[in-house]
Amino acid sequence: MAFEYIEITDPLFVQNLGKCEEDDYLMVRAKQYSHVPIKIPNWVPQAHCFSVDFKNHEKDLLEAEVYPDDVWVISYPKSGTTWVQEMVWCICNDLNFEAARANSLQSRFPFLEASSFAPVSFNTYEYARNTPRPRFIKTHLPVSMLPKRYWEVKPKTIHIRRNPKSVAVSYFFHSERFFYKCSMDTFLRSFVREHQFFSPYHAHVIEYHELQGCDNILHLTYEEMKRYLPAVVRKVCEFFGKSYSKPELELLYQHLSFKSIRDNPTLNREKPNDPIKTTPFIRKGETDGWKHELTPEQIHMLDEWTKERVPNPEHRKLFE
Ligand code: A3P
Repeated sequence: MAFEYIEITDPLFVQNLGKCEEDDYLMVRAKQYSHVPIKIPNWVPQAHCFSVDFKNHEKDLLEAEVYPDDVWVISYPKSGTTWVQEMVWCICNDLNFEAARANSLQSRFPFLEASSFAPVSFNTYEYARNTPRPRFIKTHLPVSMLPKRYWEVKPKTIHIRRNPKSVAVSYFFHSERFFYKCSMDTFLRSFVREHQFFSPYHAHVIEYHELQGCDNILHLTYEEMKRYLPAVVRKVCEFFGKSYSKPELELLYQHLSFKSIRDNPTLNREKPNDPIKTTPFIRKGETDGWKHELTPEQIHMLDEWTKERVPNPEHRKLFE
């Protein structure tokens, strides 16, 4: 077996079984990882949180095909993935906004491993496999779990990261929207214990940062996109060897604005049969919303979590 499965016995998790809808979670650790080009000495990957569905898709994941003309977007959840996907898709498709608006992002940009943790009505690996090339692939997988072919092929990839407190708040509202039944406080306590899908968050970010010889990966941050989108667009255009006129770029900035993304039904997915209209998928789009959405105690807890998980001062800078 390529993966080790670890039952979650943490008392908080056990105590909330049957209350928060996290009942089928389990931790998964990659056992074959010597092919990952990482600079961290004696690196051993940590276990990451998935659901029991993971077991049904081991083979799909291990054998996933990767092509040299693929474009991958990789992130920890709630880091601005959708925003980056739309930017990348438009830049790589001659700013074809009409086609972008006509087809859901999910169909243009398959989420590779969604079947490994969520009850999706189709096999997302199969969907990605059958997607015509050049493909655009979204994943939240940590470096240790990327399909082996990824490292042989090294397709062009954008990695995006976001401040941990923003991620934490956004992740709570996202989970609540889809399934989560407990409070923000309970969610945050389980998040810092690494028991939310794809956790641990810090390890995900540090490991992508510590890859070596991977000039196929362009690293971006949510905060730099918020600060000055044109500079990021310039970098991404250069990365993909694309060039657009000023008026064309103006249209792109407009297309990628928070308002436009929020009002775009191919991106801001309505929850089907949602009579009460829960928090939208594209919610607030702020860099420091957490300052008024979290209590001082919650901020303290998240800061202590980062201090504890990230002892290296160089790495700490990734989370400021
Ligand atoms: P919030 O929940 O803080 O609003 P992901 O796509 O990885 O799930 O990330 C979703 C987050 O990105 C949400 O954060 C969403 O609002 C934000 N986002 C999406 N498009 C954005 C844009 N154009 N400008 C700013 N934030 C955006």
